[in-house]
Amino acid sequence: MNKHIKWLLTQYKSQKYFVLIMVIFTLASSAVQIAYPYAFKRMIDLLNDVWANPELYPTPMVEVNRIIMLFLAIGAAQFLTGFYPCFRAWVNLRFEHSLRIFYFDHITRKDYRFFQKFRTGDIVTRLTDDLSEFPKISWFMGSGIFRAFNSFSLIMFSLIVMFSINAKLTLLSIMPLPLMMVVFYFTSEKLYTNFERNQRAISNINNQLEMSFSGIRIVKSFVSEAKYNRFFDEALDRRFKTEMSVVKLNAILSLIYQYIDYFAQIGVIMFGGYMAVKGEITVGTFFLFYTYLSMMIYPLLDLPQLFVSGKQAFVNIDRLDEMKDHPSFNPETQVGHEVQRFEGLSFEKVNLSYPEKGIHVLRDIDFDLLPNEKMLILGSTGCGKTSVVNLILGIVKPDSGKITFSGIDLEKINIKSLRDIVAYVPQEPSLFSGTIKENIMLANTDASEEEYQKAIRVAQLTDEIELFPQKDETHVGQRGLSLSGGQKQRITIARALIKRPQLLILDDITASLDAENEEKLWLDIEKEYPNTGAIVISHRLSTLRYVDTVLYIDDYGHAHKGTHDELVMTNRDYHDFLHEHLKK
Ligand code: UTP
Ligand code: MG
Repeated sequence: MNKHIKWLLTQYKSQKYFVLIMVIFTLASSAVQIAYPYAFKRMIDLLNDVWANPELYPTPMVEVNRIIMLFLAIGAAQFLTGFYPCFRAWVNLRFEHSLRIFYFDHITRKDYRFFQKFRTGDIVTRLTDDLSEFPKISWFMGSGIFRAFNSFSLIMFSLIVMFSINAKLTLLSIMPLPLMMVVFYFTSEKLYTNFERNQRAISNINNQLEMSFSGIRIVKSFVSEAKYNRFFDEALDRRFKTEMSVVKLNAILSLIYQYIDYFAQIGVIMFGGYMAVKGEITVGTFFLFYTYLSMMIYPLLDLPQLFVSGKQAFVNIDRLDEMKDHPSFNPETQVGHEVQRFEGLSFEKVNLSYPEKGIHVLRDIDFDLLPNEKMLILGSTGCGKTSVVNLILGIVKPDSGKITFSGIDLEKINIKSLRDIVAYVPQEPSLFSGTIKENIMLANTDASEEEYQKAIRVAQLTDEIELFPQKDETHVGQRGLSLSGGQKQRITIARALIKRPQLLILDDITASLDAENEEKLWLDIEKEYPNTGAIVISHRLSTLRYVDTVLYIDDYGHAHKGTHDELVMTNRDYHDFLHEHLKK
């Protein structure tokens, strides 16, 4: 079965009761629509007959009253089916909601390579525009398909009634149908490619916007506003062109359809009129055919639209599935051995390269870390310090070698349980929209007020928070634009501490704490969070005072571990590296 159809069926299954109500509603609404002209035909024929053969109708008012009752019943039914479009819109929303949750959930479990490939703006477009805008997925699944089903059932009901009244006239009236199919076949392919191109252009623009605003400081500091404006102009220009071609094609399509409609009506008037004059059909039948046909034309033209909007929706489905199916290291973070305690860590002959850049960063790394040990990673810029941390967190995978955490192979560990006992302060801290307190509590929503105060105290934030306009209820913008880099990082340190981690990883805190505050941080950690293991990356040599051991990564990607004194004595490169650093 076609994969899109399969996809749709799975979605429908998840909402089967709503779908069932929709089917019933749709059939009822078509039946009501069909019944109205039919009651009218009965009325016309009756009045005609009463006028022509009065002797057959001794009590004509009884017959008339019966038809009036029929009209009243149709009116009542029409009132009920009036809620149908409203219900349909509601079903659209349900689909939109459940799909967005489904794909969002998948995306949050992706690793860094996913986010290298898909820019934020692109992901946002796929989760919003692709899902909810007019001819897109959720509209298609509810309104699109059921409007088509509505059209289809309306046509079928009309045809049944028409055939049962006069087969010859019916056949003559539906002749334009094959013509429309041919027209559709030739235009749809073109519309499909244009639509896809248009969608790409929209994503592109959102990316540009996202990039320019999130990096607005960089843009400004490099005085490159003009360059960005030009980029943006170009992107807008592309979108304008693709959008115009979709509009043009749509205009041509609707013009063609209009003419088909026109010819079909003329046909009925000609053939039907002729047959009515010859007495082959009644005036009521002529009226019925004319009304049914004008009622049918629009749905008939609308049906191919289903294929068009279907194709559009299928592009969107593919775009969502492309994200969902993008391979990731830890697609299932919930499986594997759970770790409760941090009982040390070891690297055995670990190699890591980044194939995208064709560089081999870490070579045959070997080291052990004891549970309560504090280790400093030193090495020149770009030597792979952050990469070591990412390996431990399971964010990247080694090419070869073995990493064990608490004695368990990292490959077999439940990564989520590992991340529960490890806290990580990244090199580039990021905050979420919300207050400072919310940002810190994020890591441990059950933390008591006391725990919270302790975390901000140890992160050396207490004095600073006092200076903010609303203290810790101060909102930080998207990405915390209103805070300094150092403030942001100290907030993420507090966020790490509030977890009461067994292993704390600090990636380059040099920028956020001066030497004096760093000393306070370490003394406070020792006091308030005793027996916490730590891995620290720092460019400040004074950090050496607070750690037990050093992992030095040289410029060839080899790692050397020992106490500072041991390394100075035995490792020439380390000695030189420190010497260089002291000069700076
Ligand atoms: P790291 O990010 O591990 O280096 O990247 P580092 O030691 O922490 O550097 P600083 O001190 O914070 O600046 C190591 C190498 O791997 C590349 C980087 O470009 C760098 O050369 N790399 C890193 C990638 O190619 N892809 C990545 O996703 C990350
Ligand atoms: Mg780094």
